[in-house]
Amino acid sequence: MDNNPVLKLGEKEVTFPVMTGSEGEKAVDARKFRQESGYIFYDQGYGNTGSCESSITFLDGDKGILRYRGYPIEQLANYSDYVETAYLIIYGELPNAKQRYEFGCRLRENAAIGTQMQRIFYSFPESAPPMVMLASIVSSLASYYPHLATNNFEKDLENFDLAAAVAISKIRTIVAIIYRYRNGFPFIHPKELPYADNFLYMMFSEQYETFQPIPEVIRALNLLLLLHADHEQNCSTSTVRMVASSGANLFTSITAGACALSGPLHGGANVAVMQMLQTIHAEGDDGTRFIEAAKVGSKSTRLMGFGHAIYRNFDPRAKIIGKACDEMLTRLGKSDPLLDIAKNLEQTALNDDYFVSRRLYPNVDFYSGIIMRALGFPTDMFTVMFAVGRCPGWIANWREVASNTKGRIYRPRQVYIGPTKRDYISLDQR
Ligand code: CMC
Repeated sequence: MDNNPVLKLGEKEVTFPVMTGSEGEKAVDARKFRQESGYIFYDQGYGNTGSCESSITFLDGDKGILRYRGYPIEQLANYSDYVETAYLIIYGELPNAKQRYEFGCRLRENAAIGTQMQRIFYSFPESAPPMVMLASIVSSLASYYPHLATNNFEKDLENFDLAAAVAISKIRTIVAIIYRYRNGFPFIHPKELPYADNFLYMMFSEQYETFQPIPEVIRALNLLLLLHADHEQNCSTSTVRMVASSGANLFTSITAGACALSGPLHGGANVAVMQMLQTIHAEGDDGTRFIEAAKVGSKSTRLMGFGHAIYRNFDPRAKIIGKACDEMLTRLGKSDPLLDIAKNLEQTALNDDYFVSRRLYPNVDFYSGIIMRALGFPTDMFTVMFAVGRCPGWIANWREVASNTKGRIYRPRQVYIGPTKRDYISLDQR
């Protein structure tokens, strides 16, 4: 107790218990602070607030460390694939051969979208934004699978394996159908194929017989999804946890995650990066205009794909994906002028005092668009691809909330700055 931090508020002293995470991270336990002092902590954006204990992902933004369940992202990117990593994130351990086989079977068995559910797609205008369609259609899963979505944690956890497989497998099929629908193409139903192969088959191939997955392309898609699979308490994952804390089922909670992901400062950044690179290319510019505009300090002119709320030296995912972009384009014998523009932009920004002094480096979105473009995904599908990748993280976080019998509903406080008490004025007096 002697070393516990003490806060003096006037005459009152409040002593905080300290918590230490498995990586030595320290927190002061402020759960009883308001009760004992009458104060709250003001922490807009929750940047200094630990909202939960979690054993899924460890992130050290200063050192550029990212680990899923203890495994460094670099090792998973080298040796694992998306489905195996999804299993690891959700269940906590790498699967043995039997577990991997059974998980794969569950994903394949739950890939298809039934005829009734397919009708939902037709109710959207063909110009509907993909993330809007995705969130609505994922939300409808709770109605097609009511026995997996009872809003009773005990029951929902009993059926968790199936619900998780439905979510991971169907979100990919939904994305493929969104693409086909918006482009006026007929829907393609899933086949008995591995996850990433099936994804590309449903998106781009008319004929199963002529579908020939290119190993480099499959590997790149696996890598892209794997690198997005979880990222600690980011905006969408915290949203999933917040909704789950009310007792909501898995499908409803991940729908909220998809909504949170759609904003340009989170999952929508990959689209903004691509638009920026395309504009630079079309204008024949070297990117100076964007760099200069970004330095003004306005949110709307930020250099997209740069900076991160947590990483302050480098984003390990950006390193992996930047290298993978180069390798994949070389192996496929392709080149992309946007990759050259991105590299130039990166170099210029990294030598500019504005970015250096604020410790702004490329994040995962800076290069992910170039990989998706090379895989054939149009820009407006980038954010839904991020959602497919992030699904295991959302699921694992939902499970932690649902399994915590001592968990409380998320209910932050506020500092009220509105009018103090005043009396009602009737309409004729206003
Ligand atoms: N371009 C120009 N200036 C920037 C940028 C940027 N991309 N990012 C931050 N800054 C400035 C910011 O204006 C502030 O300047 P000042 O100190 O003069 O007020 C300073 O850098 C510190 O920024 P911050 O407020 O600490 O940044 P944040 O932690 O609030 O925001 C961020 C993090 C990712 C929202 C922000 O860096 C950003 O908007 N980046 C562009 C969008 C983007 O690429 N998002 C994808 C994030 S990675 C994918 C994901 O996990 O969702």
